[in-house]
Amino acid sequence: MDADSNKIVKLNLKRDQKILDFNDFQKQNITFDILKLQEAYRQIITTKKFDDGGGISHFGAICLTRKPGDPESVKGSKARGIYWTKPDKSGAEVSRDIKIDESEYSEFIPDYENTYFKEVFDVISSKYKLGRVRILLKEPRSTLSWHRDPEPRLHIPIITNPGCLMVIDNVAKHMPADGSVWITNNTKYHNAFNGGEENRIHLVACVLDYKFN
Ligand SMILES: [Fe+2]
Repeated sequence: MDADSNKIVKLNLKRDQKILDFNDFQKQNITFDILKLQEAYRQIITTKKFDDGGGISHFGAICLTRKPGDPESVKGSKARGIYWTKPDKSGAEVSRDIKIDESEYSEFIPDYENTYFKEVFDVISSKYKLGRVRILLKEPRSTLSWHRDPEPRLHIPIITNPGCLMVIDNVAKHMPADGSVWITNNTKYHNAFNGGEENRIHLVACVLDYKFN
């Protein structure tokens, strides 16, 4: 190996080390019972259908919290909420959907009070200031847009497969469905895809008081 090619190998190593920074995926010091989470999910889908967020393909949401006494606050685009994306070759950023005052979503929906999700909600809402808490569906072989959100998100994977990855900036990570809790930096550009052949189901909460450094 001559001197020049030696130099290239060293540069590549440095670049790889820089990419593998998982700071935007922070595992929290809480765990839940994954079997109870899966059972609670099976319970709610016997009576409740996923909302498609106003016509978004391969996406579904069931809100677990709402504005007190207001069933309309969890339907259509309110099941989704504002985000910013770069939809075309210009790279220009545009906003989509409607702004939501997350702090108003303080009521756990009474229909789900007899499920394990109530216990989960009580624990996470005692530790973090939360906005909407939703069960999100990502269908097989599908992706979201490349986008950023107004705030970080708390994830509890309920059903997943190895082909489900979240990508933040240039870093991709699989979050296993083992009862663990993650907070992800959704204020950076990100995406999530399900490359498997089964639905991906996560509990996802907007977190209003979590700062990434
Ligand atoms: Fe997002």
